[in-house]
Amino acid sequence: MKIKVTQAEGNQRRKKPADESNLGFGDIVTDHMYKMDWEAGKGWSNFRIEPYGPIPIDPAAMVLHYGQEVFEGLKAYGGEDGGIYLFRPEENFKRLNRSARRLCMPEVEVDLAMEGMKKLILLDRDWVPRSEGTSLYIRPTMIATEPHLGVRPAKSYLFYIIIGPVGAYYKEGLNPVKIYVEDFFVRAAIGGTGEAKTSGNYAASLLAAEEAKKKGFTQVLWLDAAERKYVEEVGTMNMFFLIEDEVTTAPLNGSILPGITRDSVIRIVKEWGMKMSERSLAIDEVIAAAKNGTLKEAFGTGTAAVISPVGQITYKGEDHIVAGGDMGELSRRLYDEIVAIQYRRKPDPYGWVERIV
Ligand code: COI
Repeated sequence: MKIKVTQAEGNQRRKKPADESNLGFGDIVTDHMYKMDWEAGKGWSNFRIEPYGPIPIDPAAMVLHYGQEVFEGLKAYGGEDGGIYLFRPEENFKRLNRSARRLCMPEVEVDLAMEGMKKLILLDRDWVPRSEGTSLYIRPTMIATEPHLGVRPAKSYLFYIIIGPVGAYYKEGLNPVKIYVEDFFVRAAIGGTGEAKTSGNYAASLLAAEEAKKKGFTQVLWLDAAERKYVEEVGTMNMFFLIEDEVTTAPLNGSILPGITRDSVIRIVKEWGMKMSERSLAIDEVIAAAKNGTLKEAFGTGTAAVISPVGQITYKGEDHIVAGGDMGELSRRLYDEIVAIQYRRKPDPYGWVERIV
């Protein structure tokens, strides 16, 4: 594939963060972005890397009206040996294509999108942060660009990738978060778009999260849409519980985002010889376990935060402290294991990590 590269001029270069140890998440982008266009009857073309900047968009572009958008989130890690590593990147592009199919959008060729991404990272490699807990976040995105005011799949799309250095996603970092069990609003229903990574799911989640924040919680714990009975996800992450000696997470039944960290955690937990169940878990079972002392840990998993331990669960006005309000032993061990593999601090027995330079 021929990718045309237009380098950013001096005044198009962006300011690098002064203090890498205090990056936060999602505010800084690099000098360049990758783009390609899709048109019905023609497919993908115009592969290019350009200076980062605004994209012209028609006010009637269909993404703005009917939400045809899918995205991904993955990271490049600055390894201790100076290399730059990706963690299971093809899984993100496979998921992007599954999301695209659900939204009636074109699929990308995985190799082609990955080539563009790697070339972009290499061009902006000086932006890969090296401080503890930092990485380069990668955001592949696809939007419907055709200007048309009727509801049907668009006939033209833009795919782009933007990247930027990030630190911790939650200001709490690895400190346990307080979560509110949401028993009115829902994130997704089976048959809906919950398993696709699409903007509408996140828009739908905002109100519940804002209300929870007002009450002093970091995030909400989502229950299933049909009965408000089974645990689904936490905030924008998949959710795991350790009850007695069983690790559980919700099954991929159509309303759950198939997280890549989720999948990695399942694999590692099994590898460690622990009991790992993908099964529906009733919130009543979680609360009963919290009350009788068998709920040992609860944590969210995602690319952005990796493992986010839960220190308190509040349901129907009652607070339940989990793992003494601290990060549990399993959460800590999983975090250490995944991060060590990602930064290539230890061998990668799973073949998950790819060195790009
Ligand atoms: C994740 O990586 O856990 C996320 O889903 C966060 C992202 C939407 C910013």
